[in-house]
Amino acid sequence: MTEVDTAQDEQSPYARVGGGAAVRVVVDQFYERVLGDPTLAPYFAESDLANLKRHQVQLISHLLGGPVAYEGRELRDAHAGLAITPEAYARVVEHLVGVLVEAGVPDDILASLGGTLEAAQPDIVSQQS
Ligand code: HEM
Repeated sequence: MTEVDTAQDEQSPYARVGGGAAVRVVVDQFYERVLGDPTLAPYFAESDLANLKRHQVQLISHLLGGPVAYEGRELRDAHAGLAITPEAYARVVEHLVGVLVEAGVPDDILASLGGTLEAAQPDIVSQQS
């Protein structure tokens, strides 16, 4: 194995997907889909979208191993009182995975991020349908 190969193997998922610029594109596309989904848009009616996007970029960057701190609220606090159902949660994850797949994010990164998002479900869903 050459030195170059070794260096690539050791890159973080964040670096492999294209760093901050790539995460920002994915997050923009993600909220375009979420806000364009009539079953989800009402949840965001009162939200400060710029702030939300900034925190989502930080969170995803951090989860991908990037050198970025998450400055938003705990996910349980951020979603408390929004009465989010399991169906709404599943649709949001579907949109997020959809944009990640379209961005060409490799399968191993998708699987690991998907596992983390799955683990967050109990913090986000607060209402049974
Ligand atoms: C896939 C799992 C999810 C993740 C990783 C996630 C992540 C986040 C993050 C990082 C914030 C920003 C918190 C802050 O600014 O302090 C946020 C806010 C928010 N999320 Fe989520 N979220 C998820 C699922 C959902 C779902 C399923 C819904 C609704 C259907 C939702 C609705 C919202 C809303 C409305 C806000 C803004 C709250 C406010 O403005 O006070 N999220 N989310």
